[in-house]
Amino acid sequence: MPVESKQIIEAHDLLKKFYHHLLVNTKEGQDALEYLLQRGFTEETIDKFQIGYSLDSWDFVYKFLTKRGYEPELLEKAGLTILRERDGTYFDRFRNRIMFPIMDHQSNTVAFSGRALGSDEPKYLNSPETPVFNKSQVLYNFHAARPHIRKKEQVVIFEGFADCISAVRAGVEQSVATMGTSLTEQHIQMLKRNTDHVLICYDSDAAGMNAANRSLNMLLQSGFQVKVAVMPDQLDPDDYIKKYGEKSFNSEVIGASLTHMAFKMLFLRKGKNLNNEGDRIQYIEDILQEISRLANPVERDHYLRQLSSEFSLSLDALEQQQRQVFFSEK
Ligand code: CTP
Ligand code: MN
Ligand code: MN
Ligand code: MN
Ligand code: MN
Repeated sequence: MPVESKQIIEAHDLLKKFYHHLLVNTKEGQDALEYLLQRGFTEETIDKFQIGYSLDSWDFVYKFLTKRGYEPELLEKAGLTILRERDGTYFDRFRNRIMFPIMDHQSNTVAFSGRALGSDEPKYLNSPETPVFNKSQVLYNFHAARPHIRKKEQVVIFEGFADCISAVRAGVEQSVATMGTSLTEQHIQMLKRNTDHVLICYDSDAAGMNAANRSLNMLLQSGFQVKVAVMPDQLDPDDYIKKYGEKSFNSEVIGASLTHMAFKMLFLRKGKNLNNEGDRIQYIEDILQEISRLANPVERDHYLRQLSSEFSLSLDALEQQQRQVFFSEK
């Protein structure tokens, strides 16, 4: 690893420890700590995820790290400070935020995401791309989840930090999160080296459902067995756990997750009125297209029969049309 990258990681590591100290032991961090506790974070999870607090200051980080020998240019390259073009001075990127340290697959601290305490925008402020951090290659909590992913032969993917952390607290330790980006091919390759089973557990709002559908398609392409968890009332996993508890999350969400086809049926039905002939025909075509992508003939037969009985259509006609869809896709 280049010296510069080593120094960037060291600086992050130092700062991570200090941010954590500020959150749990100081008066300055008190509001942030109360915010977290009131949201349902426990002292144990705050320790486990090394969550911290960045002071409401323009130059705390700059002073803290330059005093310890880090060059101003390096700190700017690390994304921890920002250069003021007009006078060549620097200011801290993260101010008055709850700090989530982000570790790479080797447990190096490579970035931060800072959450606003109130309704400040942006809600989450992330480190920029740096020599050691590219968010399309890093999954939050992957370094800690990996042994559990292997043992449970499954990974659960979330959209958000809070979702992933609450899931781990609920005992779903094989949890990772993308960080405000879509799932990428690099993420998928990281997962593929550890398991063939993915459970997608995104927010159950429209954006989350669309993202889940997109991730599902990519994961199927890469040969994963995929399931999708869906929650009521457009909740996100963290909200669900807060509202219904950890036990219910395990049994009613994780335990009751949908198979790939069951999710497709739910998803493709959305916004359609199946009593309307045009919508109904469109839905049947969409499902036939999904069926034609299934590699297993027994599975294809199963869903064709299900479709045939739900819409009182002859199995022959459906089989014929499915073959047409299949060949037109090739
Ligand atoms: N995100 C981001 N920048 C934003 C908003 C979101 O990077 N301005 C990322 C964060 O990683 C966040 C995830 O996208 O965790 C999901 O976004 P959202 O559902 O809006 O946030 P929550 O995780 O639900 O945040 P919270 O529960 O703290 O309100
Ligand atoms: Mn601690
Ligand atoms: Mn969301
Ligand atoms: Mn959310
Ligand atoms: Mn949330």
